[in-house]
Amino acid sequence: MRSLWLLAIVGLSLYAAEVVQVGDKFKDSGKCKACHSHIVRQWDSSWHAKSHYDNDEYLRKTIDYVARKDNRKSLNTIKIECAACHNPRISVTSTSAEYEAIAALKLDKDSAATKAINNNGISEGINCVVCHNIDQIHDNLPDSKRGINRVSWMPSGIMTGPYGDAKSPYHKVEQRDFMDTNPNQLCFVCHANDTSEEGHRFIDMQVEFKSGGKQCVDCHMSPRKDGVAATLRDVNGQAHKRLIREHGFKGGHVESMWQDALKVEVRKSAGGLDVTLVNPQPHALPSGFGSREILVEVQYMNGNKVIKNDTLSLTTHYLSKRNKPTIAHLAAKTQDSASIPAQGSKTLTLPMYSGVNQVLVSVSYRLVNDEVRGLLDLKDPIWSKKMVIKKVNLKL
Ligand code: HEC
Ligand code: HEC
Ligand code: HEC
Ligand code: HEC
Ligand code: HEC
Repeated sequence: MRSLWLLAIVGLSLYAAEVVQVGDKFKDSGKCKACHSHIVRQWDSSWHAKSHYDNDEYLRKTIDYVARKDNRKSLNTIKIECAACHNPRISVTSTSAEYEAIAALKLDKDSAATKAINNNGISEGINCVVCHNIDQIHDNLPDSKRGINRVSWMPSGIMTGPYGDAKSPYHKVEQRDFMDTNPNQLCFVCHANDTSEEGHRFIDMQVEFKSGGKQCVDCHMSPRKDGVAATLRDVNGQAHKRLIREHGFKGGHVESMWQDALKVEVRKSAGGLDVTLVNPQPHALPSGFGSREILVEVQYMNGNKVIKNDTLSLTTHYLSKRNKPTIAHLAAKTQDSASIPAQGSKTLTLPMYSGVNQVLVSVSYRLVNDEVRGLLDLKDPIWSKKMVIKKVNLKL
């Protein structure tokens, strides 16, 4: 028995996340601007750049809500848990029972945990030195180990990238396959699965992913195209021409990305009105983070007169251990889950009414469903904005 404990302890320490300090020369994206200004600009508009308590209202209010409902853990402990993927260059990766006791008395102002959270080195969220300082990704670890717990870092000042022959006067470089032939491995460090405070797996994006076709970077960065990696001129007075990808990481928050993300077929059937949503993407939609929503709104018309409006919502609802509606991070179970499977389809049957000679169907996406927006009191209009996927007009 004792040796089992010993094994468990050794095992845990082997799995512990490793911290490597990033030198001031490389800490923030501003340091890369002189030679990679186009990349910095694109990344700056992405939601990777907003992944910090201060910069994303949804993230902040979720962290506050979890800390309020979970009275075993302090706000800082929750922030550190979430940092595993949201702020992986944080210098403290867990807190102890002693820390919780000090935090409860509000005596933690000078603690390492508080300093790590307030360090402006993490305020840029998922910045250049998150992805480009990864040395190895440990896919032999259990699949619950993500983010900071799945990678080891390069010494500060070495950038991993796609090229085998790059030279930079500012930093050392090393080629890695997860920057080149196997970029999904990099994205899955964080975009794979997540588990609630109650141990409920509420996202499983890697499991639902249909590999074989395009990679995440083909659609969420850009296809490879001609350009320059660095604007710095070399000895011939030229910037080196390269195949590059954009760094916008455009996804669910970007309205233009939703246009035609699904195919929509509408027809009259014996049961009423059939709306079929076809998903050509290699992952489900909605996918990834819970409480996203696809809305199907139908307007039944007679000539110019609206006879009736119906709305169907495809989203996921979660229940707490007391069976109350809650957010994903506090879920004990999933109450119901509705999304359109990867490279699959779903047919919804709506009623038909007499006198209808035309239906207008609008399919759109919202970042947060009504339930969670209400629980968290989210204010920014982006969370409730309907981003149009497709509109179909059917004359009967
Ligand atoms: C395993 C890695 C991981 C951990 C740990 C993690 N997240 Fe996330 N989180 C993600 C990823 C990846 C996304 C983006 C996925 C998407 O948009 O579908 C995300 C998105 C979110 C969003 C949506 C943000 C937005 O702008 O729409 C919220 C809110 C959030 N996380 C809260 C939390 C909280 C609170 C914690 C800690 C209790 C946490 N996350 C821990 C990986 C993680
Ligand atoms: C003084 C100019 C300069 C600065 C500042 C600079 N770089 Fe570079 N970087 C270069 C040059 C030059 C290359 C090589 C370009 C080429 O070969 O096409 C390069 C290449 C890279 C590569 C590709 C490496 C590979 O092997 O594929 C990455 C990634 C990178 N830089 C990241 C960064 C980051 C992150 C920062 C900020 C912390 C930064 N650079 C700051 C000049 C600079
Ligand atoms: C270190 C963890 C991590 C890695 C690695 C990572 N992401 Fe993310 N990603 C996140 C988190 C966390 C968010 C949510 C940030 C927020 O909204 O505050 C996110 C957001 C996104 C979004 C925006 C989603 C939306 O709904 O708008 C896209 C797209 C995305 N990531 C694509 C990628 C791709 C492609 C890769 C691989 C090249 C990648 N990510 C690698 C953690 C990561
Ligand atoms: C979420 C992970 C992620 C983040 C954050 C990120 N990159 Fe990249 N970057 C990549 C991937 C993946 C590639 C490889 C693209 C490919 O397949 O050629 C890449 C490629 C590059 C290259 C080679 C040229 C190109 O565009 O393909 C440079 C230079 C670079 N990144 C610099 C930066 C800088 C500077 C930042 C911060 C402003 C940054 N990256 C942020 C994932 C990331
Ligand atoms: C063939 C193109 C394609 C590939 C490959 C792809 N996606 Fe997407 N993804 C989309 C489209 C289209 C959407 C819907 C519009 C949007 O959010 O960009 C989407 C949405 C998302 C969202 C937001 C989902 C939601 O419901 O809120 C995330 C997060 C995401 N993708 C991450 C990834 C990751 C991680 C990978 C790789 C494992 C990946 N995607 C591969 C096309 C793709």
